[in-house]
Amino acid sequence: MELSFVMIKPDGVQRAIVGEVISRFEQKGFKIAAAKFMQISRELASEHYGEHEGKPFYEPLIEYITSGPVLAMVIEGENAIEAIRKLVGKTNPQDADPGTIRGDFAQMTGRNIIHASDSMESAVREISLFFRPDEIIEYERSDEPWLYE
Ligand code: RTP
Ligand code: MG
Repeated sequence: MELSFVMIKPDGVQRAIVGEVISRFEQKGFKIAAAKFMQISRELASEHYGEHEGKPFYEPLIEYITSGPVLAMVIEGENAIEAIRKLVGKTNPQDADPGTIRGDFAQMTGRNIIHASDSMESAVREISLFFRPDEIIEYERSDEPWLYE
């Protein structure tokens, strides 16, 4: 089982699709291991998106991600990191396939609804930025025997 860091960005909260987005992960069989509704500081935003510092979209990205509350989550499941990136879709919603979250709900790269970790290394780093170890809950979902053989 893998853990991924997923965050519904301020546009996802303002557009009132938090429930819809969470439903997609739940329906696929992924388990919420942690969740925190929060307003991100500039400090946390720049740590989280540190890899993009210096790029032309960096400042607008920090403005965007700090512009309102977000829902930060740790989501658990089989091959979660790669599988969740597939559910999320391509960075530019114009390129994201229909059926993906960005493909179904977003128009522009700078308003693309959701973040998801892109590798095991990013997942570990991002989870530890947003959550303490004791905030990540281990439990069984009652349908697990029907999801996993
Ligand atoms: P994320 O980190 O948010 O999950 O997105 P991602 O991996 O699909 O894309 P990434 O390259 O990491 O970019 C992070 C976020 O920065 C904004 N962005 N804008 N205008 C642009 O060219 C541009 N490129 C990236 C997007 O909000 C993107 O999700
Ligand atoms: Mg990224």
